[in-house]
Amino acid sequence: MRNKKILVVYFSKTGEQYSVGNITEGNTAIVAKMIAEQTGGSLFEIKLKNNTYPVAYTALTEVAKAEKNSNARPEIASDVSDFDSYDVVFIGGPVWWEDLPMAVYTFIDKHDWSGKIVVPFLTHEGSGLTSVPNNLKNATGAEMLDGLAIYGHIAQNERNKAKENVVNQLNKLGF
Ligand SMILES: Cc1cc2nc3c(=O)[nH]c(=O)nc-3n(C[C@H](O)[C@H](O)[C@H](O)COP(=O)(O)O)c2cc1C
Repeated sequence: MRNKKILVVYFSKTGEQYSVGNITEGNTAIVAKMIAEQTGGSLFEIKLKNNTYPVAYTALTEVAKAEKNSNARPEIASDVSDFDSYDVVFIGGPVWWEDLPMAVYTFIDKHDWSGKIVVPFLTHEGSGLTSVPNNLKNATGAEMLDGLAIYGHIAQNERNKAKENVVNQLNKLGF
């Protein structure tokens, strides 16, 4: 894996989050930066074009549930211009209702995944990987490696522990 060109794509939400209070750097963003640092990959954050997500956690859960139920594809603000040049793409986000935020699927739908190796990474508060790796397999059709699952509050509040976990999991995958 060391000679591969690596992209680390993620969605992450600041504001009020489950078990960590009001955060200014999202849990998944913290993990994404660890992965990019460890692998030498390029970072890309998926941002919404019209970011109307509520800051408050409970209100956000309602919006997220409606988006999931309608299989929405919220418009995203920008894209990776040299996507085709990457060999390995880490795709990350928070677990939202046992899935990824729909904006991640907006990003996926925009690209040709043939020949890519995809590695899911998620932050969560108990669900673990859920069916996300399977959903990503279906959405991309790409070769998949085992996913990384990290507790959001550990990424946020115990960074050394989170980093050790991330590095161990990456090593097992050959990064
Ligand atoms: C809308 C919403 C739905 C969530 N659903 C789940 C869930 O199904 N399972 C789970 O373990 N955590 C769930 N969580 C907790 C998040 O996965 C967790 O707080 C995550 O680390 C947030 O990452 P972020 O700061 O990068 O957005 C949910 C959080 C939100 C806001």
